Amino acid sequence: MSKITAAITGVGGYLPEYVLSNQILETMVDTNDEWITTRTGIKERRILKEEGKGSSFLAIKAAEDLINKTGVDPKDIDLVIVSTATPDMKAASTAAYTATQIGAVNAFSYDLEAACSSFLFGMSTAAAYIESGRYKKVLLIGADKNSSMINYKDRATCIIFGDGAGAVLFEPNDEGLGLQDELLRSNGEGREFLHAQYGGSSYPMTQEAFDEDKHFVFQDGKTVFKNAVFNMADVAERILKRNNLTNNDIAWLAAHQANKRIIDATANRINLEEEKVMMNIQKYGNTTSATLPLLLYDYESQLKKGDNIIFAAFGGGFTWGSIYFKWAYNSN
Ligand code: UT7
Repeated sequence: MSKITAAITGVGGYLPEYVLSNQILETMVDTNDEWITTRTGIKERRILKEEGKGSSFLAIKAAEDLINKTGVDPKDIDLVIVSTATPDMKAASTAAYTATQIGAVNAFSYDLEAACSSFLFGMSTAAAYIESGRYKKVLLIGADKNSSMINYKDRATCIIFGDGAGAVLFEPNDEGLGLQDELLRSNGEGREFLHAQYGGSSYPMTQEAFDEDKHFVFQDGKTVFKNAVFNMADVAERILKRNNLTNNDIAWLAAHQANKRIIDATANRINLEEEKVMMNIQKYGNTTSATLPLLLYDYESQLKKGDNIIFAAFGGGFTWGSIYFKWAYNSN
């Protein structure tokens, strides 16, 4: 009997309407379009403005898009995983709310948090459930409302992040398509360089911390940049090597969209031509857990059955990794 593999059989996405352009940011902090474009590749990002709407709002919209496109009956979904670094609220699962709202009434659900690697690690989790034969339909959603934890007075972070969500459906495949191999890593020594210090269990919120903006994201950009370049390129190169793949075998690189220069460095390390590098950072910025599924959402029409895709991500924690994946369908 051939091994069951876990393939992606559908993609959905959602971006909030409000566009925060570099030009608007110029009016908010001491920055300019030229600096942002050359240092990051970002031109604009989307922001969810409506009060009371959190990451679940984005997740539900992306899931509904997938359901409409694929025709999957939400009642047949076994499990809903919401990868997110910005859950709706503490002590209540964002995934549970999302699953109920989309009509996945027979599913169990939970959140998965690994900063910007949340979706990549979620792919591993979703695939393992399918490969084991235990479940047949796993909905994996990457959703982040980053604007909820960004200080729009801090030019070092507010120019980078945006809000958005993407969703994929994992199902069993008997042609060997889907997840082929993974190399996932973490190193907790990295957390001092990228975190939101207050508001969690180590440092519950105080009035003083709030007044000093310590609940917002802090990033030592240079250190994170160096680690991201080294580690993302390293795992991408290693996963190619151990699967005896060369650049000619790879159809696409789907890399976490944090900075165009980090993506370019990863592509260079594996000698991949620019045309094979998925890129939408210019439109959405860094949407944390949503970058990888939003790449699939934007590029779905160009993907072909059997295409080899290398996924790669790096994020807070630090967390990082790479996945070698075979695409399972042609879009019509
Ligand atoms: O997704 C999770 C992982 N996150 C990442 O991968 C992000 C990694 N880091 C980065 O992408 C980059 O480090 C940044 C885009 C955040 C910053 O780029 P950089 O080339 O590392 O700039 P820098 O922080 O070294 O700053 C260079 C200069 C500084 O001025 P001085 O000290 O040289 O006079 C900054 O104050 O640029 C200044 N600067 C800015 N200038 C205009 C910093 N931010 C801005 C800004 N506009 N927004």
